[in-house]
Amino acid sequence: MAAHDAVEVIVAKRDGQELTASQIDWVVDAYTRGEVADEQMSALAMAILLNGMGREETSRWTAAMIASGERMDFSTLSRPTADKHSTGGVGDKITLPLAPLVAACGVAVPQLSGRGLGHTGGTLDKLEAIPGWRASLSNEEMLRQLDDVGAVVCAAGSGLAPADKKLYALRDVTGTVEAIPLIASSIMSKKIAEGTGALVLDVKVGTGAFMKSYDDAHELAETMVALGTDAGVRTVALLTQMSTPLGLTAGNGLEVRESVEVLAGGGPDDVVELTLALAREMLAGAGRGDVDPADALADGRAMDVWRRMVAAQDGDPDAPLPTARETHVVAAPRDGVLTRLDAMAVGLAAWRLGAGRATQGASVQAAAGVEWHARPGDAVREGEALLTLHTDEPDRFARALESLDGGFDVEAEASYDVPETILGRVAP
Ligand code: URA
Repeated sequence: MAAHDAVEVIVAKRDGQELTASQIDWVVDAYTRGEVADEQMSALAMAILLNGMGREETSRWTAAMIASGERMDFSTLSRPTADKHSTGGVGDKITLPLAPLVAACGVAVPQLSGRGLGHTGGTLDKLEAIPGWRASLSNEEMLRQLDDVGAVVCAAGSGLAPADKKLYALRDVTGTVEAIPLIASSIMSKKIAEGTGALVLDVKVGTGAFMKSYDDAHELAETMVALGTDAGVRTVALLTQMSTPLGLTAGNGLEVRESVEVLAGGGPDDVVELTLALAREMLAGAGRGDVDPADALADGRAMDVWRRMVAAQDGDPDAPLPTARETHVVAAPRDGVLTRLDAMAVGLAAWRLGAGRATQGASVQAAAGVEWHARPGDAVREGEALLTLHTDEPDRFARALESLDGGFDVEAEASYDVPETILGRVAP
């Protein structure tokens, strides 16, 4: 690999130039090896945030991050593979019903997931609310489960895109997380290295999402779809609303319960709608667009795969889910219509109740979280329960209630149009 000088690369991007493939390969590799210092990569990340990167630069940056680690290979499987990635939202438990549903339709789902940090929960934290369930699998165990059961949700090993791990931690403390080429390459390097054949991106838009505006979310979606396409992964994105939290629960065990309701043929309408829409996209990407996932949800096949998927990772699908030691009810302040329930307020409340972690590696409570008993558009009556807060540590209620202050509106006389769950679609 040709050697460059870190200052030369920083100055080029600072002055608005396009980086060459050779400069990108070198700087990502040298940073991963510790040859380019954190302060130099910070300056480069800031220059990228301010001046951007074009499609070719971003594709090369992504390829360089993939090349920093291992790549999974599912070519020995008898079925096609498809995966989903969500940019993160409050109450976003969709992976839980989606992975077994798509597997029940004949497409294998290798989902390497992370843990939550901040106000959006992590899929692994949710599944760990199931007694016995184990997130860490060896590559062999993962392949065997994909062959036998068809769906795996497990922890991503540290071997995938280690350059991203280092760079993401640096961006977190240097005000450079928000650069769209860096977000897109971060997400896509991990997903492409994971080796899936088709990928569906759920890009969240709204107060509870990373991307607050539709235009920013659309740009991120287009960038990621282009990266996937350039890498030979059939990629599409749905833009979905995240100003109101998804479903009726946020919190690990609470979200497992709601997901099981969806697999049993019930559950909140928005969760069912989004699960089916993402499943259709995944099946189409994997060449099974003729299969209707609604059938597998209705006839119990998705539930059967869920039970096998949980059991294969030592979880007991029949064990009762943990319940919190304490609950606190927030009552509706007046008769009327719930016209707003803010996703960020609910996410922060769930986090403060113990459902999420403040620092990497901290533990989470399996039963903590928030349940809401009405969704925007629903009529409520004064004094009736609007929200129930759950935690094992009652001294957490005060801070959670603070984050909910101003987080919802009940209006006496209101006409209300329920917002669409799916706001847009981006395909190559
Ligand atoms: N998630 C990621 O994995 N990377 C980012 O940069 C942002 C969100």
